[in-house]
Order: sequence, then structure tokens, then C-alpha cells
Amino acid sequence: MRIFGLEEQIHVIDNNITVDEIIKDIVRTKEISDPFYIFDVGDLVNKVKIWKKKMPRVKPYYAVKCNDNFLILETLAAFGLGFDCASRVEIKKVLDLGVNPSRIIFANPAKMTSHIKYAMSQCVDLTTFDNELELYKIKSIHPNCNLIIRIRSDAASSQCPLGVKYGCDPQVEAPALLSLARDLNLSVVGVSFHVGSGCNEPIAFRRAISASATIFCLAQQMGFTNMYLLNIGGGFPGNKNTSLDKISEVVNDALNEWFPLSSGITIIAEPGRFFAASAFTLATKIHSIKSRPNEDHTMYFINDGIYGSFNSILYDHSVVVPKPLIENTSSSLVPSSIWGPTCDGLDQVIDSVNLPKMNMGDWIIFEDMGAYTLPVASTFNGFPLPKVFAIANRLIWNKLKNLMPISEDHFTCVPIVATIKMIQSESSDDDSWDENDIEYNRQYPCLHLKNILNSPNL
Ligand SMILES: Cc1ncc(COP(=O)(O)O)c(C=O)c1O
Repeated sequence: MRIFGLEEQIHVIDNNITVDEIIKDIVRTKEISDPFYIFDVGDLVNKVKIWKKKMPRVKPYYAVKCNDNFLILETLAAFGLGFDCASRVEIKKVLDLGVNPSRIIFANPAKMTSHIKYAMSQCVDLTTFDNELELYKIKSIHPNCNLIIRIRSDAASSQCPLGVKYGCDPQVEAPALLSLARDLNLSVVGVSFHVGSGCNEPIAFRRAISASATIFCLAQQMGFTNMYLLNIGGGFPGNKNTSLDKISEVVNDALNEWFPLSSGITIIAEPGRFFAASAFTLATKIHSIKSRPNEDHTMYFINDGIYGSFNSILYDHSVVVPKPLIENTSSSLVPSSIWGPTCDGLDQVIDSVNLPKMNMGDWIIFEDMGAYTLPVASTFNGFPLPKVFAIANRLIWNKLKNLMPISEDHFTCVPIVATIKMIQSESSDDDSWDENDIEYNRQYPCLHLKNILNSPNL
């Protein structure tokens, strides 16, 4: 059982309050200066509901790499999901929750020997492969492991293509690999693919499922008698304004055609982004502002950047949308850019955007920040990673509190602000000069050097 720090618990909130309102309440108190996340557990629970409704035949194995936050893993474990782990540490993290090893797929086609040994010692006996050496390694370390051949079948366009690195050619390489697996007396039980993360071409799933059916037939002809598993990977969208409708339609149709219910084949997937993206909202604070010489352009400096949460802009090719958290949004918009806190010129969050005039101490929030953000972030230049505050309303609390590994201990009715007060008293910098310096803000509502120089007061 996990021991909780107060900030690791789920804060119970009123049924109708929104994430934006919660963030406003928090920042209004001026108790916090560091960036922070609100993790809406209800959003995650809703995704489980959507997945089950849209693709009832496809059992999700959550891709831990996407966001390994304990409360995400525990919530998904509570709903009986499986887990896609890429490494020893990820496997351990999931096993430590009390999840049975049979609910884990070690879905990294190129594994380190020590990690294979660990998987074997923990009875994790389902893994993917796409090359010969991997088969020899598995034969010598974990010979009874059940194997899934990963084929390459790329979407024409995706946010993060994966085929350049993983997946064997289904026509040329797959037959040779299956033949070697047979010679080594290994147990191949299925086929997997990943069309690319953030798939922009739903029909790619149809091509990949069709290609998988061909490999199924081939493997059966070659004497693999236990072909029972199709793994359709990840690639499903997860942001607030996206829908699973199109991809689920394509997947369900293709499964009916090539893997009908009567085939008895088990279908699994490895979604990451779909579950995690929209559940996390990031709140950042403006700590400095400057204008570009001879340009009507304002540069806002916020306390999280490319080396922190916004690494997703570089690595995940994400596009982030700022939502200023100011009362008077009716002020005219000005050309602006947003920058992270480190001294690197690369640390730019948004290059060009029209924003209302804001002051030092104002906050900007970013929705859809749950996928491929925190697990990749660093504390470069000494800037701390944002804390995560989880929330759930009473309905979600009642639904979850007795679903193992979640328990009543996971929840607290202490307001988030009180939790923050407690944390702040233990750590954190006193950053209160900026927002309290009302004179400063009144004088320079938006710091344009040009404006100041033109001011009649000078
Ligand atoms: C093997 C594997 N499975 C699943 C995923 C998750 O993909 P997504 O977040 O697009 O669902 C990834 C992402 O890189 C992956 O490499």
C-alpha cells in the first residue's frame, strides 16, 4: 500500500466547479508561485467510459511512458486496464500497485537483457519483437515468454511517427523472423503494430489490421498453433476537442472483417495519449515581461518552459494553446510570444500569438498537458517541476473509493489551497514582490519600453 504525502491525495471538490475556477481560486490566494497541474480524475474516468463504449472488443493496456503519475496508474488499474511497460522501472511501478503480471505487456521490441531477466523473475511473460537478435536474447533468458511480432504499418501522417525505428517489414522480414522463432522453438502468439502516435489518418488502422491478418495466416501455416492476440498499438487522440469516433469506426469495421468475434482472437491496444492528455491542465505564472525593440511585440516569461513541461513541443511535436487567466479579457489583443524561465534562447513556448495585455504576476493556463510532458521534463537551470494536484467530485469519489488499488485513503476533503499552504511553508521561494507591487503594475500595465519612453511623464 502506498504512503501518501498530502499533495499526492485526490482532493474532493463540489460537483459543479470547473478546473478553471479551481485554478482561479488557488492563484487568487497568492499562496503559490510555482507552476502547477490540476489533474482531473473525472476526465480520466470518463475516457475509460468512452473507450469501453466505442471499442468494446479492444482491451486497453495503458502506455505507462505517456504519463506515469501514480494516480493515473491506480485509477486505470482500478478499472481493470492492462499496462504497456517499456522498461524494468515501468514494470516495477505497475507491479507495486498490486497489478497481476498477466496484465502487463513488455511492449519494447528492443529490450536490455537485465530488463528481460527482471520480467522473467516477475512472471511478465508477454513481449514484442521485431528483429533476430531479440529472439536469440529471449531464447537464452526467457524462453517460455509469449511473443508478439511487431510489424511496420505507418499512418501517412502522425504527430510522432514510430515506424522509422520499430516494426519489421511484413512481407520481407516477418516470414524470416517467424521461421527463426520456429527454429528456436519459441512461442509466437500474436501480431502488433503502432501506426504512429497522434495518428492523423484513421484509415491507417484498416491497412494495419489487414496486414496483421496476413501475418496471422502465415504464422498459423508455419505451425504456430497458439495465435490468439492482436495488439493494435496506440495513436488515438486525447485532447479535449478530439474524438475517438472516426478511428473506432475504422477499427471496429476492420476487426469485423478480418478478426470477427467468432475468430476468438483477443484484441488489445496500448493507448497513452487518449487517456492522459486532457486530464492535466497546467497553470503558469508570468514573472517577467519585455518588449522587442522597434516592434509592437510583447515577450512574456513564464515559470515553466521547454526544459520542463513544454518539452512536449520538441519531443512530442505538440502545439500548446495559452489561456490567460485574467479578469479583463476584453482588452485589445497584442502580438506576443511566451518564453520559459531558463537562460536558453531555445526555451520558447509560443513564437507568435495575440494576447490581451497582462502583468507580472498574472497566470496563463494550458489545457491538454497530460501526455508526454512531466515524465520527460527536467529541472534544467534549477527550475522545479510543477506539482500535480488531483481533484475529483463526489460522484467520482464514490465510484472509485472501494476499487482496488484505490481506497478511501486516496481522498482528502482538505481544500487544495490548504494543502498548498502546508507545502509552501515547508519549501518554496517567497516570490511575492511582483504581484504585491501594485504601484508597478498600475504604472506599467503592459511593459512596452517604447510606450514608457514616449510617456509624457519622462
Ligand atoms: C510501443 C508503444 N505503445 C504505445 C504507445 C502509446 O502511443 P499513444 O500515446 O499514441 O497512444 C507508444 C508511444 O510511443 C509506444 O511506443
